[in-house]
Amino acid sequence: MTRLDAPPPIRIGLLGFGVVGGGVVRLLSQKAGAIATEIGRSIVLRRVLVRDPGRSRPFDLPEGDVTTDAGAILDDPEIDVVVELMGGVTPAAEYIRRAIRNRKHVVTANKDVMATQGVDILQLAREHGVDVYYEASVGGGIPLIGVFRQDLVANEVHQVHAIINGTTNYILSRMAGDGVDFGPALAEAQSLGYAESDPTADVEGIDATYKLAILASLAFRTQVSPAAVYREGIARLRAADFRYARELGYVIKLLAIAKRHPGARGAGAPGARSTPLTQGARDGGAPPPTDETAADEIEVRVHPTLVPQDILLAGVNGVFNAVHVRGDLVGDVLFYGRGAGAEPTSSAVVADIVDVAHNINAGVANRIPFHYAGRLPIRPIDRLETRYYVRLWVADRPGVLGQIAQVFGDHQISIASCIQKETDPSAESAELVIITHPAREADMQASLSTLEALGTVRELSTMCRIEAFA
Ligand SMILES: NC(=O)c1ccc[n+]([C@@H]2O[C@H](COP(=O)([O-])OP(=O)(O)OC[C@H]3O[C@@H](n4cnc5c(N)ncnc54)[C@H](OP(=O)(O)O)[C@@H]3O)[C@@H](O)[C@H]2O)c1
Repeated sequence: MTRLDAPPPIRIGLLGFGVVGGGVVRLLSQKAGAIATEIGRSIVLRRVLVRDPGRSRPFDLPEGDVTTDAGAILDDPEIDVVVELMGGVTPAAEYIRRAIRNRKHVVTANKDVMATQGVDILQLAREHGVDVYYEASVGGGIPLIGVFRQDLVANEVHQVHAIINGTTNYILSRMAGDGVDFGPALAEAQSLGYAESDPTADVEGIDATYKLAILASLAFRTQVSPAAVYREGIARLRAADFRYARELGYVIKLLAIAKRHPGARGAGAPGARSTPLTQGARDGGAPPPTDETAADEIEVRVHPTLVPQDILLAGVNGVFNAVHVRGDLVGDVLFYGRGAGAEPTSSAVVADIVDVAHNINAGVANRIPFHYAGRLPIRPIDRLETRYYVRLWVADRPGVLGQIAQVFGDHQISIASCIQKETDPSAESAELVIITHPAREADMQASLSTLEALGTVRELSTMCRIEAFA
């Protein structure tokens, strides 16, 4: 029985009815009673946009409510919340903007849109008095966006280390645990549905750069574009690298790393966060500030990384994701869970819908406004200082080791250990694994170029950065 004074239901328009869209519809139906109790009114699905209504799906489309006309949702004055679960930038970004201009709240799981246009979209929402929530855009069901927006707001975040791509973490876990090489591990991930038929976005680290751009923007109250994130994928790694890393006390992970480096004024000093926007920085580049030490800088990079075996991230295996945050007040916190899949992702989307519903009930929007303080300069990768793992094949004859050590020495790189691993008598080659003391990236790259040109170096197989977690 409906109470006469019961508030009207909140009406939702859904853009996309795929893996996540289907999961959200199922969840809203299964938990309708609990959600209505939570927000004091029901949530009803008014219309669903798909591309091809005739496509066969694992679940039935809600009858009568399906459209291929986006305007039937975006321009429908009866719809309160648009839930965008289509993916991609075009036309999703434009649909989100149109919904906002029509004063509809938006919930989205779209990392591509939020990483590239998030700041502008949030600003547009503020101007129109509506909310945009995007918890599911990073880490599936793991609470992250709300954590940075609200829960860690009293902190100055110093570092974020994240495993945020389940596909690559699955592949790397198989290579580490079972000695499987990259190609077979990828084929297995594809057969299990963990990797797309075109795996480029995952294995080249592109997906992770988008997610890191979103997290770093929130963590440092700045604007980080995915193009500004330094990126290397995992395709060059071989089973031998995982074996040698294990012997040395490490595991190899595709890490997304964001760090804040205090400038001369120091982190937390007045004005340290409010670096003025420069046109060069706006364009995604990273021009050094006039006074290089005056402003804070941030470091954002995604690449295969040697991680000490005894830290928690090293134990994150399979398709699981984890994000380790270090703040000045909380110290170290770790978020761990399933970063994709219909149910975990729907959990985040529905939580956002419930949050929006609370705001509608209270008659407020932008309850937690998000202030970006402009673009902090991005420290170029050349200035990274870290330890390195290098695996190479060289001519197996006297004097070659000295020649290699000389090249590193000439570039101010000191070798911590050098182990000969394998020999190939037919090719008269030997495999070397070198670990360096902390060195500058620019010096490492110059050394590698010199080594590559040496007649005695047969193959430069792998170079990986080692993360100290200091
Ligand atoms: N899958 C995950 O585990 C996961 C996790 C976190 C975040 N996300 C994000 O969630 C979003 C949705 O992902 P998904 O895996 O659910 O995608 P999906 O299975 O490919 O579903 C996409 C849906 O959007 C519809 N669609 C796409 N382009 C359209 C267009 N131009 N016009 C009308 N309808 C269109 C498709 O219609 P048809 O059905 O007719 O083709 C389909 O129903 C993406 O932004 C993704 O990055 C996904």
